Amino acid sequence: MSSSSDNRGSVAAATDPIASSPVYPLGSRVNERGRLEVGGCDVVRLVAEHGTPAYIYAEQDMRERAAEYLRAFSERSSDFEVIFASKAFPCTAAYRLFEREGLSVDVASGGELHMALAAGFDPGRIHLHGNNKTRRELEYAFDNGVGHLVLDSFDEIELADRLLDRPQRVLIRITPGIEASTHSYIQTGQEDSKFGFGLADGLAEQAVERVRASKHLELVGLHAHIGSQIYELEPYTKAIEVLADFTSALELEPELINVGGGLGIAYMDGDEPPSVDDYVDVKVRGIERVFYPVPRIAIEPGRSLVGNAGVTAYRVGTVKEIPGVRTYVAVDGGMSDNLRPMLYGARYEALIADRAAELPDTEATIAGKHCESGDVLIEDAEIAAPRVGDVLVTPATGAYGHAMANNYNGVPRPPVIFCDGGEARVVVRRESWDDLLARDA
Ligand SMILES: Cc1ncc(COP(=O)(O)O)c(C=O)c1O
Repeated sequence: MSSSSDNRGSVAAATDPIASSPVYPLGSRVNERGRLEVGGCDVVRLVAEHGTPAYIYAEQDMRERAAEYLRAFSERSSDFEVIFASKAFPCTAAYRLFEREGLSVDVASGGELHMALAAGFDPGRIHLHGNNKTRRELEYAFDNGVGHLVLDSFDEIELADRLLDRPQRVLIRITPGIEASTHSYIQTGQEDSKFGFGLADGLAEQAVERVRASKHLELVGLHAHIGSQIYELEPYTKAIEVLADFTSALELEPELINVGGGLGIAYMDGDEPPSVDDYVDVKVRGIERVFYPVPRIAIEPGRSLVGNAGVTAYRVGTVKEIPGVRTYVAVDGGMSDNLRPMLYGARYEALIADRAAELPDTEATIAGKHCESGDVLIEDAEIAAPRVGDVLVTPATGAYGHAMANNYNGVPRPPVIFCDGGEARVVVRRESWDDLLARDA
């Protein structure tokens, strides 16, 4: 697969608006009944059985995207590591899937670490992140022999060294001073950041000195993640050059360079993110050009492995037309299952899954069911004329949807359903109202 949109390949692609869209999971289509099909499953039938809202994933999509990263690397480099940034989709079944596909995993908390271990990840393939790892999280990681610790602060260097009684491979997280053009909340490479050690202010150099002076920390490399949902490739090249200048100034010979994740995905039909191939090419060529000897090259994709693999299915509960103003279509979820529109102003498409081939002829604002005026999933979406009881789907919700789900207004979190070859399995069950009482002391 050279780009996600090339892979649709079926005869139907020319006429099927879903099969030809880069936004839906690979292999999605409009089926013979005119309904949306994901992973071979009729979404309307699926939710008749499992209810709404529901996160529905095409397993094959995630496998193919993992394979695409591995293939892009193996064509260019013999020493690389593709690390699933599990914050995008922390779900045991997803950890298991990517473990089987041969990826490593990045965990950003003790909880994510717990899930990765439960899914059977070899601890040696786990990279532990976080700007404020607790003592308990570090102890849990060390007890389980986590392969790499990505150091984020001086306090952490001191604490980790104190807790260890054996060597631990570590990377230092550098903020390279690169501002990627994405929403400021998901920029992480600029100097003014809560993450990592800056270069211009000399903190990165001091971090290297502290690690060198430590008893147990074995510095094997550097890490830099400049942000998320990035469409330009140039900032990665710049970040790599900055890391190379830093290593040569300090006479470091890193065994591993981790250049983070960040590849953007298509949220809207016209979006054209760079291909995985081009993204990997920029990273491999960038590192080979400025590092000698060439270190192992690691990347940490999250969104681009899972974002387009998932859709969220809702039931339309009310259609409210305010004459001369707008039409509100209210669904049975919203900011408790997808925070991104409220957090970053993220844009999505919507589709009436029952009439998936129908041309959109209605402009409507898709609102959630929560007690906030800001609980709007999509402003001015183009959809087929909506009716109460329709199944409304928002595609490209596979990343940071389930991950950020919450119980605002006492709304139980949706199930996660994996579909493959027409078979569906619930991998995370729906929360119940009783679950909302489960932690009461
Ligand atoms: C350190 C780190 N690595 C990887 C990622 C994954 O980024 P993305 O989902 O954009 O690929 C993130 C996301 O915020 C991150 O903070």
